[in-house]
Amino acid sequence: MERAATVISPEHIEAQLKVCRAIADITAQWGEKPLAFVDTYGCQQNEADSERIRGYLEKMGFGFTHSEEEARIIVINTCAIREHAQQRVFGNVGALVHLKRRRPDTLICLCGCMVQQPQVVQKIRESYRHVDLVFGPHALWKLPEMVYALLVRRGRMFLTPDEPGSIAEGIPVVRQDKIRAWVSVMYGCNNFCSYCIVPYVRGRERSRRPEDILAEVRQLAAEGYRDITLLGQNVNSYGRDLDEPIDFAGLLEQVNAIPGDFLIRFMTSHPKDATQKLFETMARCEKVAPVLHLPFQAGNDRILKIMNRRHTRAEYLEKIRALKALIPDIVLTSDVIVGFPGETAEEFEDTLRVLEEVRYDALFTFIFSPRPGTPAAEMEDPISREEKLTNFNRLTALQDQISEEKHAAYVGKTVRCLIDGLSDDARYDLTARTPGNRLVRVVGASSALGQFRDVKITGANKWSLFGELV
Ligand code: SAH
Ligand code: SF4
Ligand code: F3S
Repeated sequence: MERAATVISPEHIEAQLKVCRAIADITAQWGEKPLAFVDTYGCQQNEADSERIRGYLEKMGFGFTHSEEEARIIVINTCAIREHAQQRVFGNVGALVHLKRRRPDTLICLCGCMVQQPQVVQKIRESYRHVDLVFGPHALWKLPEMVYALLVRRGRMFLTPDEPGSIAEGIPVVRQDKIRAWVSVMYGCNNFCSYCIVPYVRGRERSRRPEDILAEVRQLAAEGYRDITLLGQNVNSYGRDLDEPIDFAGLLEQVNAIPGDFLIRFMTSHPKDATQKLFETMARCEKVAPVLHLPFQAGNDRILKIMNRRHTRAEYLEKIRALKALIPDIVLTSDVIVGFPGETAEEFEDTLRVLEEVRYDALFTFIFSPRPGTPAAEMEDPISREEKLTNFNRLTALQDQISEEKHAAYVGKTVRCLIDGLSDDARYDLTARTPGNRLVRVVGASSALGQFRDVKITGANKWSLFGELV
């Protein structure tokens, strides 16, 4: 198939790195090392983008801080998935007006999915005049030239092209973690689920070349990363736009063949494209974690149809059965939307029934939020907010009960876990993850950090497990 995506040439990225060096010459004259504050909202795609933003900033001579007050440059990487996410950003950005008044030299930058929406850009132009730079995900690779322009000639800058999107390799990365890492395998989405803003703000699906992905994973494995998550809005359509004959199962197989002691995870999978071949590959590949995040959104076929999910409840449940037959201890998680326009009480019951049949380990539940420009935002919605809230509470109560039961079944078992952090709960020393990604709070010495260790599970609640190093 013809390669649809524009690939940003290595010369273009090299030119941006040259601009970074020019900025580093400027920042070197500022006296103390200038600091950058990067704040990230939204999904792992945005986390991965922020790691590239930090990569560029480091090359410009910036260090990093968690305090806006100390920062010479503030970058807020935003999410547009629900209204609530946007309101939080507007609130936080609004509060920066005082800081900008006190310290006009501080550069305030807003980027990410939210600013790909024209009405948002309009609002920032008019009412958030202390914001210096606004750029969308498609323009991220040009961050150095944007910062340079602001440093030498001041003024405001807006770069939010509405385009199908591109692929840029070779942008420097500063990762947030030394144990777990994200690797984007593709960008964008072609699915246009009727409620979702992502295809409008992230452009069309485009896959990175397998050799670029494999090189990145090899590098991470060599650096000692233990948990690598392959990212895309719908990883199951990986490779459809590439010349070479490869699909996501094929990619998983190749990543699995990379030597090293690490686990492979991936997200998100769309049920319509999750195939028997994928399940068999998961079962066969020893590094692929026994966990699948497979959003079903709603349990009723009429709702699924107007959501434009392109699968039925029966098809979904059949896939879950096939997967459980291959990997009996598979850990399953999902996303659910409550209160889609017109969803009746009986239709909502179908969602509860899916929970009872599948018995997810964890569920991410959302109340429908109309996104301007999407078809669902125009649909009639006679259901009251109270009714939606009642349904939402019933859903979370049922899931809490299931999570608690599933977690209780771990107690007494010894599970090989990745020790991935220090516990913020004083009664425990460490945090760990089971292969299925369940959180475990662990008693034990911090020398175990970054290792796969046997943990004896001694307790559980609906959120997490508790245990001790064996
Ligand atoms: N690409 C992923 C989802 C990305 S968005 C997938 O297809 O599964 C993460 C979740 O946010 C979605 O699965 C959905 O449950 C929820 N979501 C998306 N748009 C929403 C909206 N308008 N209102 C409420 N929840 C929404
Ligand atoms: Fe949104 Fe659907 Fe694409 Fe997921 S698959 S990002 S829910 S349009
Ligand atoms: Fe949000 Fe954009 Fe991710 S809208 S969920 S940050 S792709």
